[in-house]
Amino acid sequence: MNKVKVTDGIFYVGVDDETIDLFESQYEVPEGVSYNSYVIMDEKIAVMDTVDKRKTEEWMEKLQGVLEDRTPDYLIISHLEPDHASSIKILAEKYPAMQLVGNAKTFQMFGNFFQMDIEGRTVVVKEGDSLSLGKHELSFYMAPMVHWPEVMVEYEKTEKVLFSADGFGKFGALRMKESPAEAKLEDWACEARRYYFNIVGKYGAPVQTLLKKASGLDIQMICPLHGPVLKENLEYYIGKYQTWSSYEPEDKGILIAYASIHGNTKEAAYKLAEYIGEKEKVVLTDLSRQDMSEAIEDAFRYDRMVVAAPTYDGGMFPVMEDFLRHLKSKAYQKRKVGIIENGSWAPMAGKLMKGLLEEMKQIEVIEPVVTVTSALNEASTKAIEALAESLVK
Ligand SMILES: Cc1cc2nc3c(=O)[nH]c(=O)nc-3n(C[C@H](O)[C@H](O)[C@H](O)COP(=O)(O)O)c2cc1C
Ligand SMILES: [Fe+2]
Ligand SMILES: [Fe+2]
Repeated sequence: MNKVKVTDGIFYVGVDDETIDLFESQYEVPEGVSYNSYVIMDEKIAVMDTVDKRKTEEWMEKLQGVLEDRTPDYLIISHLEPDHASSIKILAEKYPAMQLVGNAKTFQMFGNFFQMDIEGRTVVVKEGDSLSLGKHELSFYMAPMVHWPEVMVEYEKTEKVLFSADGFGKFGALRMKESPAEAKLEDWACEARRYYFNIVGKYGAPVQTLLKKASGLDIQMICPLHGPVLKENLEYYIGKYQTWSSYEPEDKGILIAYASIHGNTKEAAYKLAEYIGEKEKVVLTDLSRQDMSEAIEDAFRYDRMVVAAPTYDGGMFPVMEDFLRHLKSKAYQKRKVGIIENGSWAPMAGKLMKGLLEEMKQIEVIEPVVTVTSALNEASTKAIEALAESLVK
């Protein structure tokens, strides 16, 4: 079996999952996903996280290939979420002398996941502690709520590598053969952004805290728990994380997120896009048909958004409510938002969408709120034109 080297002393033993239907039972991953795990080979051997139980066997084989006849001294547990931790027990049972390295919160939660006796086998680290492996030395930095409470990252100072847990992760299998897959700048952001906003999005402030800690380290390489190793242009990736975690828009443009039962609200959305499209970038998404996580990604990406939905049983059309509740739970904020509602006898969707938007921070509703009464007519078409003008102003 090929050993995949990240550096002279660090090996990649992660695995691809290309058969999972939905990541976290929610996110489509048309290109799969990788569960990354690394091994530092030195006088002492450290395994950096495990993988999802869907892939335990394949991971163990790779690990064996790197270890040959040696045994690991430490398992570093950055994160207890099962996509990284659900193979811990099997590894710990195979190597009874191996110590488990985590922080106080890791071990508070550990027993909820695993029924196993780890007394005498734990190394509890705190902020700034270090662990020498020989030539390599790991330092630990706590990253609570990025995006679980027990998350920590590790910095290896000899090779200047940051093991960043889920931070800087990206959807997509790696399909690597002999060398570690390195990110290609042009296609990293798309799936890394969708990953970030949907999974970590709510926790901008803790991410900012972590970035501050990281800025004090000389980092030459980032090894995340999903997606490629980042080596070149680190300022690009870190810059993206700065933007995303501060909730600042990344690009100028307008997302029009619509839902429509019979097509009239859709027509209004397209009409608006036509008016705007002459002047600015506009992206349309049909919330009933297109992937919700893509819509969330685009809502955060652009500086403006328009929501358009029919009234439905006195409420708003359900996928719109779902979308807005998702945005709220991911702390959507600092954006300008336009509203188009539709209703045949008592339009309510506009008021309700506005109400949900007002529960979010620093959302400016752009006037006029457009009401379509069943199908577009002269008045509502004019209102759409007026909304387009306020949006591009
Ligand atoms: C099941 C159902 C419930 C509806 N409930 C309401 C309602 O409570 N109030 C209202 O004004 N219109 C209601 N409507 C009408 C739609 O909001 C209206 O026909 C709208 O024009 C549909 O826009 P669309 O062509 O984009 O689907 C309802 C329609 C359906 C199918
Ligand atoms: Fe996670
Ligand atoms: Fe993860």
